[in-house]
Amino acid sequence: MRLLVTGAAGFIGSTYVHLVSGGHDVTVLDKLTYAGRRENLEGADVRFIEGAIEDPATVREAMEGADAVVNFAAESHVDRSIEGQDPFAVTHVIGTGTLLDAARELGVSRYVQVSTDEVYGSIESGSFTETSPLDPSSPYSATKAGGDLLVSAHAHTHGIEAVICRGSNNYGPRQHPEKLIPLCILNALHDDPLPVYGDGRQVRNWLYVQDFARAIHLVLERGKPGEAYNVGGPDECENIAVVRRILDLTGRDDSLIEYVKDRPGHDRRYSLASDKVRELGWEAQTRFDDGLERTVQWYRDNERWWAPIRSGEYRAYYEQQYGRSLG
Ligand code: NAD
Ligand code: DAU
Repeated sequence: MRLLVTGAAGFIGSTYVHLVSGGHDVTVLDKLTYAGRRENLEGADVRFIEGAIEDPATVREAMEGADAVVNFAAESHVDRSIEGQDPFAVTHVIGTGTLLDAARELGVSRYVQVSTDEVYGSIESGSFTETSPLDPSSPYSATKAGGDLLVSAHAHTHGIEAVICRGSNNYGPRQHPEKLIPLCILNALHDDPLPVYGDGRQVRNWLYVQDFARAIHLVLERGKPGEAYNVGGPDECENIAVVRRILDLTGRDDSLIEYVKDRPGHDRRYSLASDKVRELGWEAQTRFDDGLERTVQWYRDNERWWAPIRSGEYRAYYEQQYGRSLG
C-alpha cells in the first residue's frame, strides 16, 4: 500500500512507521512541533514532507497517489491544553477536516483516525465500549472528540472508508518527557523530585506503544468502515504505583516523591473494553512490568535522544508547570 502517515515524527507515529515501512511505501507529513523530531524516523525508508495537516495545499501534495491515510498528528499533552487550547482545536478539528476533504477529493480508499480513551471521559468502575457516549473533560480530549465526530460525519455523509482507533495511555521508547512515565524516569535518574498530581490515586490503563501500533495497522487492514475500535492496555495501575515502580527500577527511594497541586478537571480513571479489536485478531503482547523495565533501560541507553530535549524548550515549560527548575 501507499500510505500517508501524518504526525509520524512523534512518539506513536514513529513507532508505527518503523513497524510498517519495510512492507509499504510511506510518505510522512509532519509539522515538527516541539514534539516532532526527524531523528525519530532514522532508519525508516520514507518520503518526508514538513507541513501542517490544516494546510490544504500541502495535504493534497502529500496525499496524491496514496491508498490510505493514518492520522497521528496531534497536540498530545493534556496539561498544555489547559494553558491554551488553540493549537489543539486547529490540529484536531481543522486539520482532521482538511485531511478528510482531501481524502474524498483524491479518492483515497482508507482513512484511520488515531484517537484516545479520553474522549469518553472518566469512569469510576467498569469499562467504556465503542457505543459509550463521548464525554470529554479537557480541551485536549474535547478537540480530539471533535475530530472523531468529523470522521464519523464524513464516513456517514460522504461514504469515506474511515475507521477510528481509540487507545489508552501509551508508554515506551521515544516518548516526550512531559508525560508521566518518561518524566519520572529522567527525574529519578537525575535525583530530581517526581511530581505526583493530587493524591496519586488516579488510574490509567497502560499500553506498550508497539502493541498500539500493531492494533492500528490491523484496524487499517480489517476494520469495518464507519466503526470505532477501542485498544486498551493489559494492566491498569494507580499513578503512585507507577511512580514507585520507576523508583525501584532506577534504584531510588520514596523520598523523591513530591505531591503537587492537582491537574484542574483531572479525570480519575480510564478504562476501555477492547473486545472488538480482539475479534479482529489483536492481543496485547507486553505486560506493564516488562514494558516498563524495557522503557527504563531505553532511557538509560539513549541520553543522546533526551539530552537535547531536557536542555531546550522543555526546561521553560517545566519551570512554568511545576514552579521549579530541572536539576
Ligand atoms: P506526540 O506529541 O509525540 O506527536 C505528535 C506529532 O504530531 C509530532 O510529530 C508533531 O510534530 C505532529 N503534529 C502536531 N501538530 C501537527 C499538525 N498540525 N500537522 C502535522 N503534524 C503535526 O503524540 P503521540 O503521543 O505520538 O500521539 C499520537 C496520536 O495518538 C495523537 O493523535 C494522540 O491523540 C493519540 N494517542 C496518544 C496516546 C498517548 O498515550 N500518547 C494514547 C492514545 C492516543
Ligand atoms: O489516555 C490516553 C492519553 O494518555 C492520550 O490521549 C494523551 O495524548 C496522553 O498524553 C495521555 O494523557 P494523560 O494525561 O493520561 O498522560 P500524562 O502522562 O500526562 O499523565 C498520566 C497520569 O499521571 C495522569 O493521571 C496525570 C498524572 N501526572 C502527570 C504528570 C505529567 C502526574 O501525576 N504528574 C505529572 O507530572
